[in-house]
Amino acid sequence: MTRRAAAALCLLSLLALAACTGPQSALDPAGRDSATLSRLFWFMLAGAAVLWAAMNGLMFYAWRVDPRPMSVRGARTLIFAGGVVLPTVVLSGLLGYGLSIMPDQRAPGDGLRVEVTGEQWWFRVDYWPDGAAEPIRSANELVLPVGSRSEITLKADQVIHSFWLPSLGGKTDMIPGRVNRMSLEPTDVGEFRGQCAEFCGESHAWMAFTAKTLSPDDFAAWLTAEAAPAAPPRTDLARSGRDAFMAQGCGGCHAIRGTPARGQVGPDLTHLGSRLNLAAGALEVTRPDLIAWITDPSAIKPAARMPAYDHLDTGTIAAMAAYLEGLR
Ligand code: CUA
Repeated sequence: MTRRAAAALCLLSLLALAACTGPQSALDPAGRDSATLSRLFWFMLAGAAVLWAAMNGLMFYAWRVDPRPMSVRGARTLIFAGGVVLPTVVLSGLLGYGLSIMPDQRAPGDGLRVEVTGEQWWFRVDYWPDGAAEPIRSANELVLPVGSRSEITLKADQVIHSFWLPSLGGKTDMIPGRVNRMSLEPTDVGEFRGQCAEFCGESHAWMAFTAKTLSPDDFAAWLTAEAAPAAPPRTDLARSGRDAFMAQGCGGCHAIRGTPARGQVGPDLTHLGSRLNLAAGALEVTRPDLIAWITDPSAIKPAARMPAYDHLDTGTIAAMAAYLEGLR
């Protein structure tokens, strides 16, 4: 191997290792289901490595160590052992292990109930606390308590999407006209990233969400805050932003609880300022990002359903951004 090839190989393995951790890695589990899936991956990899080593070992033996022709009897034994016995034993082991983890993965959640709906191109998130007649509605962010099993109902509005939060669990499709389900049991407190894993149109690659896992006490406090109506604007700029938001008819598509904005077509913005992302993971909830989004959403997410507001003067847009950023 030349030095250059060795360096390239080294770099590639470093890159491969780097992808094993982080907020969106199935190999860096923070939940019970993802831990099981990550074990399955290593188990499968070990099985594949054993087969690969055995096959290459035999090839090396026949080619370099003892290249003489084999007796017919020896060849038959080898073919039977290597072609029938070995795959049967290894594949049965892998299949058995794979099947054994399925009941756990399908276990129903007995804690919080959350309904997530795939929209074009964002996630509607409805929390249903025990006994609630109406959901606490949010978007593009999933907050879950650590240590209990939350039941997640998955729906879609127009086309098939797929809900995938690798740090916490497997992947499940969201299909229009059908209700799918999964359950997640986070074990670690943290912030993670999930995304749509099924091609769903122009902005499929821009359809992501963030997830936060909190201790049970922190979660209870968060849910209480999330259920509350939006905080009124505190500065003159934010107040004029709110007035512009209402005057421009933004409330026809977006709801901000506690205000006349009741639209349900677009994401609920009641506590937008406290979320970790804007526009389903495409942007952050900062003033410059809000201004860019309001000015021309399609420039950021192709075919975004929200119209551009570039006919407004920059001062008005900046005021709206200040209002929205303050919705904590
Ligand atoms: Cu939704 Cu891809």
